[in-house]
Amino acid sequence: MRVNGQAYRTIWLKPGAEHVVQIINQVRLPHEFEVMDLTDLAHVCRAIRDMHVRGAGLIGAAAAFGMYLAALQANDPDFDRSLAQAAIELNACRPTASNLAWATGRMLRALTAGNSPHEKRALAKLEALAIADEDAEHCQRIGQHGQKIIAEIARRKRGEVVNILTHCNAGWLAFVDHGSATAPIYAAHDAGIRLHVWVDETRPRNQGAALTAWELGQHGVPHSLIADNAGGHLMQHGLVDMVITGSDRVTRKGDVANKIGTYLKALAARDNHIPMYVALPSSTFDFSLADGLSSIPIEERAPDEVRWLSGQTAQGTIESVLICPPATPARNWGFDVTPARLVTQLICERGICEASETGILSLFPEQRGAVSDHG
Ligand code: MRU
Repeated sequence: MRVNGQAYRTIWLKPGAEHVVQIINQVRLPHEFEVMDLTDLAHVCRAIRDMHVRGAGLIGAAAAFGMYLAALQANDPDFDRSLAQAAIELNACRPTASNLAWATGRMLRALTAGNSPHEKRALAKLEALAIADEDAEHCQRIGQHGQKIIAEIARRKRGEVVNILTHCNAGWLAFVDHGSATAPIYAAHDAGIRLHVWVDETRPRNQGAALTAWELGQHGVPHSLIADNAGGHLMQHGLVDMVITGSDRVTRKGDVANKIGTYLKALAARDNHIPMYVALPSSTFDFSLADGLSSIPIEERAPDEVRWLSGQTAQGTIESVLICPPATPARNWGFDVTPARLVTQLICERGICEASETGILSLFPEQRGAVSDHG
């Protein structure tokens, strides 16, 4: 993607200093564009926990680069034990997105092909780069598949503007490039389809307002920011043609964990006969789980993220303000689960399928034997 005309990914190795990982510091956006250096495992863990990097695909890629930095740090006699420990530490940083454990598991498997710590360090670098490239490529393919859905709606509307509602940020900032929910939007916009995106602000951290609005603006995609509670009203008045979100974990039966509030959008969409699409790369599936409500771990974050808001003042400084009485307690769940029955279709890199075990296995037949939780 381009930022002020320059091509960027969200994570990369520093040119000329490939023992350093660089990221776009997402807690500074949209007010400042800052590139941040990550130099060791602890640094990567902090960046994931504090959401300098966030979004399912990107935290997977960050975890892969974290394993690479751990491999550079590890002492030879202790190499395998240190890397196993690094995977445990990375997996514990954020519990909901599948991509973290998927990436650390893939890194550990790749290292078994090395015969010495020296060889394993080289393999760690190659595998982390491969995971990042694959994430970008899968999102690009999601865009190609999803564009057809938008094109079909545009055809039915005889070229009138297609109104798309999205929640949170499943954009290129949440992946290595392109995004999942935004990839079809970018592809359709680039193909000349007239569209407009309703961007949910996405309290409490406002990833919609801060990140989705910023990246759509960078790409020139028409959009409007709306309060989180506005979507149902817009749907009742014919102002939404489709909803598309990303996901942090999808079970093999098609239940979708995504940013808190997604379930309410899915309910409103169903009540108004509006299709609800979920876009995800295969790294976000958890084929070992069936029932999302009982099995997907939901992250609970600090209450102060609900009690305080951060933003730019009229004078240009970034400040936080308290929005409730000082003693008011708060709770802060990061995600909710939308049952498969409310999801119209899933858009993956291999194509589009029903949100059901049969639909998902038709795209991923090699997962037929995946371990079952409660059936
Ligand atoms: O808490 P975050 O910002 O890491 O949450 C992830 C998200 O942005 C959304 O849930 C998104 O729709 C799925 S990630 C591609």
